[in-house]
Amino acid sequence: MVMNEAMMDAIEKDKLIFLATANDENIPNVVPIGFARPLDNKTVLIVDNYMNKTHKNLEKNPKASFVLGDVRKCPYQFKGTVQIFESGKYFDEAVDWAQSVMTKLNPKAAILLNVEEIYSVEPGPEAGKRVD
Ligand SMILES: Cc1cc2nc3c(=O)[nH]c(=O)nc-3n(C[C@H](O)[C@H](O)[C@H](O)COP(=O)(O)O)c2cc1C
Repeated sequence: MVMNEAMMDAIEKDKLIFLATANDENIPNVVPIGFARPLDNKTVLIVDNYMNKTHKNLEKNPKASFVLGDVRKCPYQFKGTVQIFESGKYFDEAVDWAQSVMTKLNPKAAILLNVEEIYSVEPGPEAGKRVD
């Protein structure tokens, strides 16, 4: 249940992930997210700048899944549980990061995704199999 170096590097360098959440009626919701980067091999920091349904979903149901925009480079599906921080060190890190890229950004929260399961999405016999 840990990301390897290649996965972490791909998340760090990719410009986009696609983040899926679900509401309390199990309606799925997927959004593109630019501010996502690994903090260590189990944790991805995601900056909530504009989240609406995503934030509401995560407050009620903290389970989330994402794939990279550049999924050919990193053909994995990541699943985990999030914690939402609206103050404190993760929030401060999110604000510093976002504002270092775009000064006008005013993050609402830092979303910390604890990666618990990783699956291959590589087309072929490994598709859908759990790798960690
Ligand atoms: C290229 C791109 C990058 C985005 N990056 C972020 C981001 O880093 N953080 C964020 O909160 N919203 C980001 N958004 C906005 C979300 O994709 C989405 O519009 C927002 O979460 C509202 O949708 P929701 O109601 O489904 O949550 C981005 C949108 C695009 C098109």
